[in-house]
Amino acid sequence: MDNKIKPKGSATLTLGDKAYDVPVCGGSVGPDVLDIRKLYAQSGLFTYDPGFTSTASCESQITFIDGDEGILLYRGYPIDQLAEQSSFIEVCYLLLHGALPTQAQLAQFEHSITRHTMVHEQLSRFYQGFRRDAHPMAVMVGVVGALSAFYHDSTDINDPHHRMVASHRLIAKLPTIAAMAFKYTIGQPFVYPLNSLDYASNFLRMCFAVPAEDYVVNPVMARAMDVFFTLHADHEQNASTSTVRLAGSSGANPFACIASGIACLWGPSHGGANEAALRMLEEIGTVANIPAFIAKVKDPNSDVRLMGFGHRVYKNYDPRAKVMQKLCHAVLKEVGADNDPLLQVAVELERIALNDDYFIKRKLYPNIDFYSGITLKAMGFPTSMFTALFAVARTVGWIAQWTEMMEDEAQRIGRPRQIYTGAAQRDYISLDKR
Ligand code: CMC
Repeated sequence: MDNKIKPKGSATLTLGDKAYDVPVCGGSVGPDVLDIRKLYAQSGLFTYDPGFTSTASCESQITFIDGDEGILLYRGYPIDQLAEQSSFIEVCYLLLHGALPTQAQLAQFEHSITRHTMVHEQLSRFYQGFRRDAHPMAVMVGVVGALSAFYHDSTDINDPHHRMVASHRLIAKLPTIAAMAFKYTIGQPFVYPLNSLDYASNFLRMCFAVPAEDYVVNPVMARAMDVFFTLHADHEQNASTSTVRLAGSSGANPFACIASGIACLWGPSHGGANEAALRMLEEIGTVANIPAFIAKVKDPNSDVRLMGFGHRVYKNYDPRAKVMQKLCHAVLKEVGADNDPLLQVAVELERIALNDDYFIKRKLYPNIDFYSGITLKAMGFPTSMFTALFAVARTVGWIAQWTEMMEDEAQRIGRPRQIYTGAAQRDYISLDKR
């Protein structure tokens, strides 16, 4: 990576009678940062920042978020423009390479991705080892981790060609692996990829086709799937991406790193929120039950949260949620469910929350997960697949961030410190004297 951090001056940290110069630097947009890399060596002090709310862990040129303004850019391009005018495969190229492709570059890239969609036949036997009721994310953590046992010709992290092949393999195979996890849980045969179809259509076919019948891809659903993938493709240093970078910082191979990202994504505060948001809407059931639910959310003695609301970075409407809301209406119309009671609950819940002081004061707005669950349900996916779909989409972001880190000369093994508050040194007491 061509490092571009610019020096911007310095700040002074005064501790007792000692003063330390702390360099200030900045990027192209966004707030400046205090460069504290030498602070410990100079002062013997660490900084304390659980949850990394005030800490930049790396330099990156991939994705920019302005949480106050509700802006999300991939390589400088606004998410709504990409969702409306581009395609997921083009977005993959953009995230990996930093620029929009020419027609020839896109054709070559698409060719490479489609030629990697199959998985080693032996990998399909892994699935038989899982219980049929296993969560697809549990299956995916295992199967994606196992890819490193199959593709030895793309695990040399110091070889740029290996890194590129591993990226293409991961983007290409994740839909196949996720669709196989789905098919396994419902007891249907696996459907092999069909390379004449585009990325999203191929995925829908692998999920919903059966050998006994022809399957015709619905273009509205294919477009919805493609936009869903684009909206979830990257989100700078979120928990799963940071997990991928941290795993990669030790030199672990890319397949193992992406498996760690999938494990992190699974949690309900992160990728699992779309599943939780739909369960919440189902639990509320009707518009009449909303006031009682909102009262529970606002009760300081309850830990009920409005799932699909709030975000660590967005203190404004999540720009992805706006696109997702439109997509939701289009998909529900297509399946003739525009009067779906869950959609009515969602619309009314959003209206109430956006006008309620509790949510306004805390800057809690709908995030992408608020409408994605209803949309995916209408597309035919069970709730247990929602986070798996997020993982398929986010794989390109994870691997682009991993590649950027591998090419960054400032990269070192990630190793946070701690404030230790446990027992000071003490002597062992033998069992008979305790
Ligand atoms: N419903 C009700 N109150 C909330 C919510 C919510 N969804 N989110 C935050 N709050 C309140 C929280 O109780 C706290 O109030 P108080 O100051 O009175 O104690 C205040 O807002 C700040 O909350 P926080 O937990 O300190 O905020 P955070 O930045 O650590 O949490 C979050 C961010 C996304 C984990 C949280 O908003 C949340 O749990 N939301 C619901 C889960 C969700 O939708 N997650 C998807 C995130 S977007 C997809 C992704 O990137 O993975």
